[in-house]
This record gives sequence, C-alpha cells and structure tokens, in this order.
Amino acid sequence: MTATPDLRPAAPPLPEPRGPLSAAVLSALLGRDRYPLPELPPAADPWGDDLHLALYVCYELHYRGFAGVDDAWEWSPALLALRAALEEVFLSALRREVGEPPPLAEVLAGLLAEPPDGYGPSHHLLAAGTRAQAREYLVHRSPYHLKEADPQMWAVPRLPNPAKAALVAVQYDEYGAGRPERAHAELFAAMMADFGLDPAYGAYLDAVPGPALAVVNTMSLFGLHRSLRGALVGQFAAVEITSPPGAARLADAFERLGASPRGTLFYREHVLADAVHEQLVRHTVIDPLVARPGCPEQDIAFGALAYGHAEDRLAAHQLDAWRAGASSLRTPLPEED
Ligand SMILES: [Fe+2]
Ligand SMILES: [Fe+2]
Repeated sequence: MTATPDLRPAAPPLPEPRGPLSAAVLSALLGRDRYPLPELPPAADPWGDDLHLALYVCYELHYRGFAGVDDAWEWSPALLALRAALEEVFLSALRREVGEPPPLAEVLAGLLAEPPDGYGPSHHLLAAGTRAQAREYLVHRSPYHLKEADPQMWAVPRLPNPAKAALVAVQYDEYGAGRPERAHAELFAAMMADFGLDPAYGAYLDAVPGPALAVVNTMSLFGLHRSLRGALVGQFAAVEITSPPGAARLADAFERLGASPRGTLFYREHVLADAVHEQLVRHTVIDPLVARPGCPEQDIAFGALAYGHAEDRLAAHQLDAWRAGASSLRTPLPEED
C-alpha cells in the first residue's frame, strides 16, 4: 500500500519559552499540564517578549501549526480563553497609545507623504547598513513575509462586495497572480537563501524579538476578529501605501551589500506592485466600504495607526541595537559561510 502524501505545508518546530505565559502555552501544546492554563498576571507587559511569543504561538495554530502539536488545539476553549486575555492586554495598549484617531482622510494623507527626514531601518541600511544587519532585518521580517498576505485573507468573508472583490484582486497578486513561484512569500524565501539564511518557515522564531512579533501579531489580531475587520483594512492600506519607497531603498541597499538579482527581486517587485495596490486599496476597497454603514472610518484609521505604531517600535528597537553595535535579534546569527 502506498502512503498517502502529506500535502500540508511543513509545520515548524515549537520555539523555546520566554517567560511564564509562553511556557504555559508551550507546555500545554506539548501535552503537559493540559489544564488549567494560567491566569494572566495583572501587570502583564503589553509589549513584552513573553506575551508576544505566547500570542504568536496561539495565532500560528490558525496558520500552519507546529510539528508534533495536535491540530485540535486551534479551537481549545482553555487556550482561546488565555488568548483572549493576552489580546485584551495588547489591544488595550494599542488603543491607549494610538489615542483617538484623526479623520481617515487625514491618516491616509499622512501615509502618502514620505517625510523628507525619514530615518527608519531602510534609510539606515541604504546609507550605512552592513550585510549582517541586512540579514537580521530579513529575520525580523520572516514571520510575516514567509506567510505574506495570509493574515489579510481573514478579511475576505467579512467584507461586503465590491470591497471583497477588490481585496481579492490585490491578494491574487500577493500570491503570484497565477504563478506560485512568484508568490511574494516565495520571493522572500529566495531572498533569505540569497543572503545565506534558512528560508524554512519558523526557522528563526527563537531569534525574533518581541517588537517584531508584535508587528505580525497586530495583523493576526485584526484578521481573526470580525469586529476588527475595519482595523485590518486600515493595516493593509498602511502597508500598501508606505511600501514602495521603503522597498526601493531596501532593494538598493541589498544590491550594495552583495545581493544577487534574486536577493532583491522581492523588494523590486513591491516597488511596482504596491504602487498599484495602494491605489486599489484606497479607491476600490476603502472608498466603497466607508460609503455604506458597517465599517466605520474610525476603525480603518485606528488599524492604520496601530500598525504604524507597532512598526515604529520595531524600527526603534533595530536602530537602537545597531547604533550600539549590538545584534537586534535575541540571539546573534551564526557567521555567514
Ligand atoms: Fe506583497
Ligand atoms: Fe502589495
């Protein structure tokens, strides 16, 4: 008898715990201490490594899961109760720190205007970054880009037409427009390989610090709650609008740092694709959505600003480490061969 081929994408190994919350989640998934899962400490750090790893692991059960972990954990009431408590801490912090959003038009206009005095990681990598820092940058980005566009797919059944159809049109491009090898996640994996990194999904999870996990957790949080569908649209808009200039800087930086064409294709592709996507998201997703009840402009504005806030925290973390001559990862990468 021939074995049935396993068509599921490879599941990554579980990471190491970073504190009591992630230890409790990981221990449960391994079949130890199945119940009860712990109460959240009253003063849990909404940006802490421990909380964000715990949340990230909970969310991954909705994407690829983990090797050796029963898929049924995805809908465990005990784990979902803990996840809800983690989400409450994080979402409350996002709402508190972002504050009352200004009108959506103002938020979108702000995203469209590149500040002349920009200073983020793409500016640093272009002007003075090292190849080691470029490799770290890819590791920070890998939890999202190796599953690029997946978190935004949660919005599809939650939006009315024509916004739903327009979102799917953008997503079609993200998944390679009929050519699986051109899916943006595949281009990102090829770029990692070009930089001598392991492109396997989750290979560097233990090295990725809380600020980078918080960025992808923001997308999953918005994506997995229908009540936050407007915030997810705002997050998506923020990515598409701000991507082209940063992608151009990163492609040039990586070329300067010795990347081959496959080591820059991901960002070169985004310079072109996202210039189109930002128009589509603004005019064919957002405009019809806000023209009818059910998806308040304020929710979209909040999502864009909250995502930007998480990105700003990650940028500060990276730049602070690099300015101090330190690794921005939890554990430095091995030297490149
Ligand atoms: Fe993309
Ligand atoms: Fe895009």
